[in-house]
This record gives sequence, C-alpha cells and structure tokens, in this order.
Amino acid sequence: MREEGVTTQELRDYRPEQKTWQGRLTFIMAASGSAVGLGNLWKFPYVAGENGGGAFVLVYLACIIFFGIPLLMAEIGIGRSTRKNAYGAFSILAEKTGASKYWRSVGGLAICTSFLILSFYIVVAGWCLYYFYITATGYFNVPSHSLDKNLTGRTFETLLASPTILIISSIAFLGMTYAIVTSGVVKGIEKAINWLMPSMMLILAALIGYSATIGNFDAAVEFLFKPDFSKLTFDSAIIALGHSFFTLSLASASMITYGSYMPGKASIPKTAFAVAGIDTLVALTAGLAIFPLVFQHGLEPGAGPGLMFISLPLIFNDIPYGQLFGSAFFFMMFIAALTSGISLMEPTVAWLEQRFNWTRKKSAALTAFSLWLVSLGTVFSLNIWNSPAFFGKNLFDALDYLTANVFMTLGALATAIFCGYCLKTNQLKLLFGEESLAIPAFRATMKYLVPLFILALALTSI
Ligand code: PHE
Repeated sequence: MREEGVTTQELRDYRPEQKTWQGRLTFIMAASGSAVGLGNLWKFPYVAGENGGGAFVLVYLACIIFFGIPLLMAEIGIGRSTRKNAYGAFSILAEKTGASKYWRSVGGLAICTSFLILSFYIVVAGWCLYYFYITATGYFNVPSHSLDKNLTGRTFETLLASPTILIISSIAFLGMTYAIVTSGVVKGIEKAINWLMPSMMLILAALIGYSATIGNFDAAVEFLFKPDFSKLTFDSAIIALGHSFFTLSLASASMITYGSYMPGKASIPKTAFAVAGIDTLVALTAGLAIFPLVFQHGLEPGAGPGLMFISLPLIFNDIPYGQLFGSAFFFMMFIAALTSGISLMEPTVAWLEQRFNWTRKKSAALTAFSLWLVSLGTVFSLNIWNSPAFFGKNLFDALDYLTANVFMTLGALATAIFCGYCLKTNQLKLLFGEESLAIPAFRATMKYLVPLFILALALTSI
C-alpha cells in the first residue's frame, strides 16, 4: 500500500549491505557506552554540586524524560530505518518524504559536533589516563598531613601547563579509540564494548559499596535528592537541558550512526528507555560514589571541574586502600571515556566510508589524524595560548560551549522539527510498531513540546 509517498514495506526493505550488531543487548551496551562517559562521572557531579544538588537533579530528570528519551528514540529510528551515517540518513529521509534536501545539513552539523567534541574529549580523557598512572604508582601516597589542597591543586596546574604530557596522554587515548574503530563495527566496536561495559559497571559497583561503607552516605543522599529550590536559577535549567542532550549523546550523530547498526527486530522505545535508564543510574550512582567521601572530608561539593582532579586525590590519600580505590576510580573514568570516544569517532568514519567509498582503514586514519591536529588547539589553549580570543573564552571553553550549548541545542531543535513535521505516519510506525499509541504522543512532543521549550529557553537566555 502506498501512503503519503512511501510505503512501510519500502522503508523496511531499504537495507543496503550494512553490518548490524548481534542483538538488542549489544546495541544497548554500545549505546549506553556512548551515553555513559565523562559527562556522567566528571561533569554531572560538579554541575549538580554547583547548581544546588537535588533541585537541579529534578530538573535534569524532567529533561531526560520529556526531551531526552523522545529524541533518543527519534535518532535511533532515523539511523535504523536508513542504515546510513547521519548525513546520508537525513538525505534519504528528506528525499523519501519530499522535504527539502537541505535537511541533510542537520546530519552534517551533527557529524561536525561529534568531531569537535572528540577533539577536546581526548584531552580530558588523557587527564584521566595520567591521573590513573600517577595514582597507581603512588604519587599521592604521602603522609596525610603533607598532602594538602595546594599540592593537589599544583599537580593539576602542572599537568595543564605541560603541552608535552597533555599531548602524550591524549595521543594514548586517541590511539586506543582509533585502534578499536579501525577494526570495524563488529570486530572492533562490538568486541571492545562487550568487555569494556561490564568491567566499568563492576568497578562502579565496587566503588559505591566502598564509599558507602566508609563515607558519609546520608549527607550525599540528602545533597543529591533533597531539592532546595531556592538554589535553582534559570541558568541551571538551561544547563540541565544542555547536559541531558550531552549525556544521552544526542544531536551529535552518535546515536543515529549506532542506530544504523541496530538489529531490525528490536523495539526502539524499549531500547531507548533502557539506555536512558542506565545513563541516569550511572550519573546518580557516580554521585553516590563521590559525595559520601567529599562530605566526610568536609570538602566543597560545588568545587567545579577540579572536584575530580584536585579534591578527590586528597581523599584517596586519606582513606584505607586509597591508592587502590583512587586508581580504580580513574581507570573507570578512562573506560567510560573510551566507550564514548568510540561513538564520537564512528560518525565521521562512517560518513567518509559511505560518502567517498573509502576503506574503513583509510577513513579511520584520516579522522584520527585530523582529530589530533585539532586537539592541539585545546592543548595549547590550556597553556601557551591561553587567551580569551573567542568571545572571552579560550579555545577549549569556547569549543565546549559551542558544541554542548549551541550546536546540540540547534541540532536537537532541527531533529524535533524534522520528525514532527516532515516524517510520515508510516515512517513513525517503523519506529514504534504498527498500532502504537505512542505515535500521536511522539508526534506532539516533537512538534510542540521540544521546539517550544528550546525556543523559550533560548529567548530568555538572550
Ligand atoms: N555522552 C557522553 C558523556 O556523557 C559524551 C558524548 C556526547 C558522547 C556526544 C557521544 C556523543 O560523556
């Protein structure tokens, strides 16, 4: 039956030779590997800390439920129904629905976003590798009265001031990401994820158990879950929205690209709920691993980006088995960053492969090399080129702001409008199943809820 220009069967049959993963579980692991990253373990605790704890967490959860999950379903669906990279996926859908071919630029923007994020993500992931190394080799293991905040602060400053260490550590991280991506979707990514995700979860569980036993667990629970609305500002709502996109890896081509490898039969809504559930659980439990120790040591929960690298080493030096706990902690951050890094590299590689018919090896090599070049900008902006040349920010902060706040918000807005106004009902049936009651709700969310909320936030912030 031909309805609104495209039949369900036609789309279902549209399967260019494309590798897909073994089953739904692999997809869930890969997508949650993408979602769970430095955003959960490093950014979420300090952002929640700076924005008043519980009240921020509530707004963040609302953003995940009302905007994050529907958009996640949309992106997985866009990838799976076309089996293409983000640019190709938007091109095909625009053509099939008779929408303007320029919608493909939304896919293009998403690929640029993932590339730019990865260019500074590898630098921060390099910090984790470096901290894993120095913690494991006992650098912080000194008599406790001689380890003070000045020392841990200086250690962090010395790291940022050294282009050599930053370059070596980011190349080490980039090299591992490259090695996995270049080996292929099944032989590289799937295989690596099957090891990395369970290991990360195990370490996290062990850390929470330990931290709950020796730390001030009640204070942490109160801080994270007792809302104090007086601390909630308008700005924190914008931050919560931006972070919910970032943490679910939305508007950055990762979920569309991974969606294109998702097995045909798995349910998209169930899968999206599972991925968002795991991601949120990890963000909250990371808080429960960190804050009990922070409170017990009378440290500041809103210490900002340095929370992880300046405050935590003080604690590791002071608790029993601190060296082991500390190294496990930074190793876990590294694994979480690696599974996200893979998903940030894959969109560009898949695009080069499909667009120019290049081999995976060539596409991955070119992507990795250009990433390295661009990452030097971030490295130098932390030391020899630390100038506020970009609207009062250095390059690192500017890239972070531009991708997480501007590109992702724009991308999410455009994706919502595309799904709400351009996709036909039978294409949505592919997402949700033939008779699903979710279709009208999804359509309304994409048409009105997401655009209005994003526009309102954008206007008020201007
Ligand atoms: N979601 C990842 C994190 O929380 C970051 C990421 C963003 C990964 C966009 C892929 C795409 O760290």
